[in-house]
Amino acid sequence: MRSFIKGLSYYVPDEVLTNHFFEKYLDTSDEWITQRTGIKERRRAPKEVLTSDLGVAAAEKAIKQAGIDKAEIELVVCATATPDYLFPSTACIIGDKLGINGVPAFDIAAGCTGFIYGLAIADAFIRSGIYKTVLVVGAEELFKIMDMEDRSMCVLFGDGAGAAVVSVTEDDKGILGFKIHADGSYGDLLIMPARGVAVELTEDVIKKKLHFAKMKGNEVFKIAVREMGNVAAEVLSDLSISADNIDWVIPHQANIRIIQALAKRIGIPMDKVIVNLHKYGNTSAASIPIALGEALEEGKIKRGDMLLLVAFGAGLTWGAMVLKW
Ligand code: UT7
Repeated sequence: MRSFIKGLSYYVPDEVLTNHFFEKYLDTSDEWITQRTGIKERRRAPKEVLTSDLGVAAAEKAIKQAGIDKAEIELVVCATATPDYLFPSTACIIGDKLGINGVPAFDIAAGCTGFIYGLAIADAFIRSGIYKTVLVVGAEELFKIMDMEDRSMCVLFGDGAGAAVVSVTEDDKGILGFKIHADGSYGDLLIMPARGVAVELTEDVIKKKLHFAKMKGNEVFKIAVREMGNVAAEVLSDLSISADNIDWVIPHQANIRIIQALAKRIGIPMDKVIVNLHKYGNTSAASIPIALGEALEEGKIKRGDMLLLVAFGAGLTWGAMVLKW
């Protein structure tokens, strides 16, 4: 018995912010952003639209694609770094908006690795026989935690959501294995200092902009390349699968240079790597399901293809998963 992705889809808000949008008011350029990150544009959700709304939009499409009735969902997991509230969880709100109250629901705070953590949780619940159908959502509204005057951050991220209906199968397809890791000693490299209980939200804190996300990009970059490479090698070796047998790599979409370095490290050519960060920027926990969803729509991924998902994010966290589609 295995778990497999029965339906997967994504949703991005309509508003497009190109690099030229930032050029108009910041000391930055389309050239710098393109060369250093690969990003050309990203989406921004309207003020009144919440992370849960993006999650619900993606989930509705994934449920339809899976061809299941909502009543079949037995667990809702939402990976997000930008929850509607500290509590209640965004997963509870998504469950309510989907009309499936009574079903257990919780959030995962694993930064950009959240979707892989979510799939891992779904896989564990399904393989243990506890549930047969789990909804995993990755949803983010990163613009709402951005200092729009901080050029080192606000050009990098975007809003969006993806969702997967994970179900049980007796076939040889599905999630073959995963490895997930965390190291909290690196926590301050990518952090939103205020809005939790650690730092009181005073006027001074707001003036210092501690309620916005901060990142030591350069340091995160180096650890990301190293650990994404290590964890990919770890899961492949665990499953005795060689990199040559991977048809598609779906990496977290943070920076084209990180993705290229990862591909080189694991010995997989870039034409087997799904890249769409030029269109959406870094959407954190939503980036893998958006990239996978788009690749499916474009007909790139076929039944039986071997997929390697790899991610890295705040925590710091990192993880990799191999699936037979
Ligand atoms: O998804 C979760 C994990 N996050 C990541 O994986 C992100 C990892 N980090 C990165 O992708 C890259 O480190 C960044 C894209 C964030 C930065 O690229 P970098 O090549 O590491 O640049 P840097 O931080 O070393 O900065 C180089 C220069 C600095 O100027 P000085 O000190 O050399 O004069 C920055 O102030 O670039 C400057 N800079 C900018 N210039 C124009 C930083 N942001 C900008 C900008 N426009 N938007």
